[in-house]
Amino acid sequence: MNIQEIIAKKRDKQELTKEEINFFITEYTNNNIADYQASALIMAIYLNGMSKEETVNLTTAMATSGNILDLSEIGTVVDKHSTGGVGDKVTLILVPIIASLGVPVAKMSGRGLGYTGGTIDKLESIPGYKTNISEEEFIQNVKKIGISLIGQTMNLAPADKKIYALRDATSTTESIPLIASSIMSKKIAAGANKIVLDVTYGSGAFMQTKERAKELANEMIEIGRLAGRETVAVITPMEEPLGKNVGNNLEVIEAVEALKGNIAEDVKNVVLELGSNMLKLAGKGKDLEDNKSKMMDNILNGKALEKFKELVANQGGDVTYIKDTNKFEKAKYILPVTLEEQNGIVKELKAEEVGKLSVFLGGGRIRKEDKIDSSVGITLIKKIGDKIEKGDTVAYIHANDEKKGKEAVQRLKEIYVIE
Ligand code: URA
Repeated sequence: MNIQEIIAKKRDKQELTKEEINFFITEYTNNNIADYQASALIMAIYLNGMSKEETVNLTTAMATSGNILDLSEIGTVVDKHSTGGVGDKVTLILVPIIASLGVPVAKMSGRGLGYTGGTIDKLESIPGYKTNISEEEFIQNVKKIGISLIGQTMNLAPADKKIYALRDATSTTESIPLIASSIMSKKIAAGANKIVLDVTYGSGAFMQTKERAKELANEMIEIGRLAGRETVAVITPMEEPLGKNVGNNLEVIEAVEALKGNIAEDVKNVVLELGSNMLKLAGKGKDLEDNKSKMMDNILNGKALEKFKELVANQGGDVTYIKDTNKFEKAKYILPVTLEEQNGIVKELKAEEVGKLSVFLGGGRIRKEDKIDSSVGITLIKKIGDKIEKGDTVAYIHANDEKKGKEAVQRLKEIYVIE
């Protein structure tokens, strides 16, 4: 067997066998296949697709390319994963609520790449918070306080790490078999036996339409079933950014506010929808509406916020920042964005464009090795459907570079489409 034959087969729209897929993943992980050959195969998969069987085989091969965590000593562990978004601080709010209701959460999150944000970058804006603890410490933390939230450890689905970086650089991200296998291989390797997926669609998501999001969701649910991991998916819109802030420490502050009960309606809907399903999967209540009430109770009685503080403290973070969010570093320039031209209603506020603006300000990466500026970003006062009168401030730009800040103000004015 050799890689040229495998590439040619996929190029010619033929189905790959399990052995061929295993060969590719093993040899590429071990650096015996060059990036250009892997890129050619990935592009052929992107263009010609994969059968269900091929996707399942690819997922299994990637999941077993590194360690599979054994969380059996903890019992039923629920995990959550989103296919990505802009302003998506759901994990920061959701997992402490779920843990505060007695369901262990062991979650490995990603970094932002492209215009989408990542939970790990957001958490690292809390001074001291360690996202790269060992797998043993991760398990100990879940046993001790019922929650741990870390970055993907080196040896978890290393094949996905390599392939994901390649896809990002070769415009081969938006492919259902590639996304499904990427996400599910990590979830299977991370050890949870129940998985809730947030599959996003719209301008800020990999899937542009609800139909495509459903297709992706079904594929992942099927993979979960075959791997013996009960999987549920929720389909959520990502046409405009989620919540009020886009930017790393701005989103942590918004998450802390949400845990105090000041939660934006769109964020609340996603958190409750995902969380009620997580509780159901964990056997904590069959009725989704009852589950949502339990979650709201733990926001209002302060237990969810306490759990978040416990998580931060347990992972070495300075919990005084959570007690008093004014301590977070502020950007040097906080510039209002004012629309002078017309009265009307916000018709469009493209998530992708706002995400790119955040990257431009330094809140995201262009290349994987870029450093993040955690205090920059965008605060959205007006969102789709809101009324605007001439002269209203619709948003604020948080910038550390004045010139970039002023340019961002102009760009955001164009991103707002008023009708
Ligand atoms: N998130 C992932 O982990 N992988 C993808 O391919 C897309 C989103």
